[in-house]
Amino acid sequence: MPNPRRRSSQLALAAILAFPLAVTASDPIPIESAVAFNTQCARCHEGECSGRLSFHLGEDAADEHIRRHGGALPVETVRQLSELLRYMKVQCAFYPLPLTLARDRIWGGDTLGRLRAPDGTGYFLPLGLLAPGLYRLWIDGLDPGARASAEVIAASFDQLDHQGIVPAGNRQVLAFQVDAPTELYVRITAQGPIALTGVELASASAGASSPAQEP
Ligand code: HEC
Repeated sequence: MPNPRRRSSQLALAAILAFPLAVTASDPIPIESAVAFNTQCARCHEGECSGRLSFHLGEDAADEHIRRHGGALPVETVRQLSELLRYMKVQCAFYPLPLTLARDRIWGGDTLGRLRAPDGTGYFLPLGLLAPGLYRLWIDGLDPGARASAEVIAASFDQLDHQGIVPAGNRQVLAFQVDAPTELYVRITAQGPIALTGVELASASAGASSPAQEP
């Protein structure tokens, strides 16, 4: 028998995930499309804040361009990805995602599955607003041979310095320092498909266990 309390919290989470926040856009864009954009398109389009699309390409050429970088996508997804570029250019921000790790602290495979790039080679994790301090993102299920790299990106699109993802026992950990209250995102990129089983965000206040050491 499934544990009923666990089941009800899963249902609550499912309800939250199934209901993308209605933001300024008239029709909310699903998490999966925003994650696709932030993993596959942002490499070139991140932080474009010109306030408008240039439409140099024309609609057909733009669709073809999106499919070249995003794969064989349904028309609806192509439209959403195009809308996401517009959102980034006009709002000068990442499209809001209706979940944050700072609030939940731990995500398992179900939630992570929604934050995974369509080709499986990356993840885009909205951490939420973090107070100043030292943080560790514990990562489960990442094969050290996957040679994954991480970016810690502020809502302003500035990147925070860090030492990279390092093994720590049978987990891996990404440590970073936040100097001013900032809304943060982590993008993980690997050479091939990866499938994380868990992530956990921990703040390491003074006096807590010593920071993760490089091996
Ligand atoms: C390798 C870099 C690169 C990647 C990856 C990339 N783009 Fe682009 N994209 C460009 C460049 C450069 C242009 C500008 C072409 C032009 O205007 O002549 C462009 C133009 C566009 C345009 C037309 C915008 C306009 O103002 O005319 C859209 C829409 C677009 N990209 C969406 C996407 C989406 C969605 C993805 C992900 C599936 C993506 N791009 C991935 C480089 C990239």
